[in-house]
Amino acid sequence: MIDSKTKLIGVIGKPIEHSMSPPMHNAAFLKNSLNYVYLAFGVEDLGGAIKSMLALNIRGYNVTIPYKTEVIAYLDQIEPVAKKIGAVNTIVNENNILKGYNTDYIGAIEALEEKIKIKDKKAIVLGAGGASRAICFGLLNKGAEVLILNRSVEKGMLLAGELNQHWKSKASSMSINEATVQLIKGYDILVNTIPVGMYPKTDQTPFKKDFLAKNLLVMDIIYNPIQTQFLKDAKNTGCRIISGLEMFVNQGAASFELFTGKKPPKDIMKKTVKDLLR
Ligand SMILES: NC(=O)c1ccc[n+]([C@@H]2O[C@H](COP(=O)([O-])OP(=O)(O)OC[C@H]3O[C@@H](n4cnc5c(N)ncnc54)[C@H](OP(=O)(O)O)[C@@H]3O)[C@@H](O)[C@H]2O)c1
Repeated sequence: MIDSKTKLIGVIGKPIEHSMSPPMHNAAFLKNSLNYVYLAFGVEDLGGAIKSMLALNIRGYNVTIPYKTEVIAYLDQIEPVAKKIGAVNTIVNENNILKGYNTDYIGAIEALEEKIKIKDKKAIVLGAGGASRAICFGLLNKGAEVLILNRSVEKGMLLAGELNQHWKSKASSMSINEATVQLIKGYDILVNTIPVGMYPKTDQTPFKKDFLAKNLLVMDIIYNPIQTQFLKDAKNTGCRIISGLEMFVNQGAASFELFTGKKPPKDIMKKTVKDLLR
């Protein structure tokens, strides 16, 4: 029951109407009998939204598009990994000290590690935006080599250059084309972070089926639909596949633990999102 002791958590972003985080977290609070409620806030004034955490004693926020980088300037402390990635998706209000974390990279790496040992593997990441950044960081941190394939070559090069400041010569970048894709047979992991194939344009794919090789472990971080055209093509090629739902639930579970200090009920979180997406 919501009462005068209920703690408030929210997700801030723009647009926010389609976020699956409120049902996922509220189901988890209910399952664990925790007196919390989770709401979605469509935010225009980011500074105002952050200040309101102090004014209203809001326990935590998840942060989504387009604020994951901009929000850093408003926080008191940034966890070292989130600082290196340059993006925060979780804020916890600890006695009026606002601490920023990144659970996106944890979510993706946990999902991959359920299927493969990342150390010394060769990974290709499609896209060079915010999610790619977090995932490349996580892969390199676990000892993989990373090749970024991106539409804007300069943006990919820039990201690879930044990553190489921490992991010398372990990151590189190219454009997506027939020639670069000849390389794919020598790789172990392929992760898509390009938002092509998302609902409602579910017949689209960011990567031609002919480019795939069956030895790959393929993950798409898009979770609506649960099985994208890219994943269907990978499955038909003989690849092992991981849905974006796994990353989404894992990042939510890691945030839940930061907000509540309790072990997240991952099964119910996953079932809630899966049921909504069906
Ligand atoms: N499962 C999860 O938990 C989870 C978590 C975070 C994000 N996501 C999803 O990940 C996706 C990416 O998010 P983001 O924050 O990284 O976005 P972002 O920062 O906007 O980056 C998007 C990237 O995709 C590329 N791209 C966009 N449209 C393209 C197109 N039509 N053709 C080729 N490349 C294209 C962009 O290339 P250019 O550099 O050339 O523009 C850019 O590199 C979204 O679908 C988001 O919902 C999922």
